[in-house]
This record gives sequence, structure tokens and C-alpha cells, in this order.
Amino acid sequence: MIIKTEIGKIDSDYDYKVLLKNKIINKGAFFLKKGEVIAFPTETVYGLGANALNKNAVKKIFLAKGRPADNPLIVHVDKNKKLSNIIRGNLSDFVVSLIDNFWPGPLTIIFPVNRKIPEIVTAGLDTVAVRMPVHPVARALITVCGYPLAAPSANVSGYPSPTIAEHVYRDLKGKIPYIIDGGACPVGLESTVLDPGISKNKPVILRPGAITAEDIFKLTGQRVKNADEDNGRDGTPLSPGMKYRHYAPSTPVKILQIDEPFRLAGFLNKLDKKSAVLLSEETIQTVKSINFEKQKIVNMGSCDDLEGIAHRLFALLRKLDQQDFDYIYIEKVRDQGIGRAIMNRLHKASQENIYL
Ligand code: TXA
Ligand code: MG
Repeated sequence: MIIKTEIGKIDSDYDYKVLLKNKIINKGAFFLKKGEVIAFPTETVYGLGANALNKNAVKKIFLAKGRPADNPLIVHVDKNKKLSNIIRGNLSDFVVSLIDNFWPGPLTIIFPVNRKIPEIVTAGLDTVAVRMPVHPVARALITVCGYPLAAPSANVSGYPSPTIAEHVYRDLKGKIPYIIDGGACPVGLESTVLDPGISKNKPVILRPGAITAEDIFKLTGQRVKNADEDNGRDGTPLSPGMKYRHYAPSTPVKILQIDEPFRLAGFLNKLDKKSAVLLSEETIQTVKSINFEKQKIVNMGSCDDLEGIAHRLFALLRKLDQQDFDYIYIEKVRDQGIGRAIMNRLHKASQENIYL
């Protein structure tokens, strides 16, 4: 069934309290109350939300995205005190400290689930992922609704997450009734997903994001591992979402690991297909005297500003994907800070590593 998709533009600079009376937010809440799904901005990426307590509404999320039913959703809350309807058991000191330090913000925490949450949300797991977004539009929307919102990223399953409303429109027009356009998402990559020790008794980051193991250690004194350090040994993905190919445009992506910059010019000259090459500002400086005809060189930002690269990454991949390139090459960035999250997404999107 094709439905009309409306877009409501809103200024994300507004204060949360002002937004509670905003007509775009209230229109979004109106659709959600009817059991519809709508897209809204968060500080990470756009989400596709439905009432987390209404299984028929949540089902529409899976349908609109083409999402596999065994990949659970994140439940979004606006306040701590709403947790008791979603989770089971007491909070450990570590979890209390995580909540105090990182909520609201781009950290998703895994809890034992309270069975008021329908099974479809958790894909039948005994745990539930919860996050409290800091974006004023997302928080105001949840408050006006009065219930938590189950929301994955608002892209067609497998495609890069949307960081502007146009991305959502392109992926989901005709499938959802409403998109709240709050401009570009500040972070640009999905939240950090942390299991504080439920499945393996040790805290582990299942999906890296803007909040890193170092940030968590600094603020809580607890060491946490990244799943990619452990995962793969026995081959079982710790988070259901980790087994899928993800974040990938249709154009094949290849990662360029440039250890010897002098080899780059030769490599670029040899590319005989129509290629787009995303390089850091610093790397572009090393080859700027060369005249490239076949390849499009795209500046993805400075290596010293990994946040900037994270912010632009999905939008660049989507933009290049709409042009007629045979390949997208992208330079590897440092595995530090948000760089780990950038490389995690790129490894999932790419088909090959090229070493220079
Ligand atoms: O930043 C974000 O997290 C965005 C915004 C909209 O909040 N949402 C998002 O959701 O990225 P999604 O559905 O695209 O990714 C959720 C990830 C998936 O990898 C999923 O497998 C994992 O969280 N996840 C959800 N529930 C889980 C659970 N109970 N245990 C382990 N992993 C879980
Ligand atoms: Mg997603």
C-alpha cells in the first residue's frame, strides 16, 4: 500500500520545553497515537519510531524498512523513571553511573526485559536495548506521546543510516505518513550499544559509537571491551545486528589503507573505471599536483577532526551512490575515539581492503 509521506520542518535549536507545544511535534505524536510509524531526528541518525508498547505499530517498522524479524529494536525514553515499565531487576552501580554520566546522549544500554515490552521489539530476546536521546526534538516527541518509542535507524535495511530528512524521504516515501525534518543529525553515526555485563558477565561494547570505551573508563572507572576485540573467535555475534551486511551503498565500497603515501598517486592513475575516491584533507595535499581525469577525489575532512568525518560519512556515501560510479574508494582513518565507529561501519559496508 502506498501512502502519502508528509514532511514537517522544525528548528532543532528550540528548547525542549518550547517544543512540547510545537505543532510539528504534536502532529508526529498524533500519527504515533494512531499506531502509525514516523521518522524523527536524533543526535545520532534519524529514527523510525512507533509506540514500543503496541506490537501492531512496531510491526509496521519492520515492514517499512524490510528489516529481518530477528534484529531487535532500541527503545527510546525521555526520563529515567520510565525505565521500570521496560526493564526487569535492579540497576547495578555501574549502570547507575552510566545513566548519570551519559544519558541523555548517544549510549544504548542493554537490560533484562520487562515483558510489558512486546516480543517483536526484542526479537524474542530476554534483553532490551534502551537509550535516552539528547536531541530536543526526539525527547519532546517522546514526552508528548507519553510512552517509549521503539526506533531503529530510518533507512531501508542494509543501507547507510539517514543523517538528513531527505535520506529518509528517498528510502521510505510512500511507506510512512510523516517525517519530522530537524536538519542534519550532529553525530552522524548510530549510538554506542553497550552490554553492561548481562550476557558474558563482563561489560562489552557491541557497536562502537561516539561514546567510547575510554570515555566510559574515564567517567565510571569501569573497563569495557569492544566486541570486535573478542568477537569472531567463536564466530557468534553478540548483538543480532552485527551479523548483517550494513551501512552499504549500492556502489561497491573498498577501503584504502595508505601506509606508503607515495604509492597513492600511482594507484589513482591506474584506476580505469569511473571511481570516486574519498580522502582526508592531509592525503589530498600529498597528491594535489596530479591531474585526475577519470577519478573524482572527494575531501572527507581532516584526520584531526574525526568527528567531522563521522558527521559527513553517510551523507557522502549516499550522495556518491546516486552518481554513476563503479566504485567508491575510501581512506582508512585512525582507529581512535569515534574513528573506531567510523571503521566499524566502513568494514561492514566494504567488500575489499586495498593496502598501499
Ligand atoms: O543511534 C541509534 O542507535 C539509532 C537512533 C535512531 O537511536 N538507532 C539505531 O537502531 O541505530 P538500529 O535498529 O539501526 O540498531 C540497533 C542495534 C542493532 O545492531 C541491534 O541488533 C542492537 O542494536 N540491539 C537491539 N536490541 C538488542 C539486544 N537486546 N541485545 C543486543 N543488541 C541489541
Ligand atoms: Mg540501523
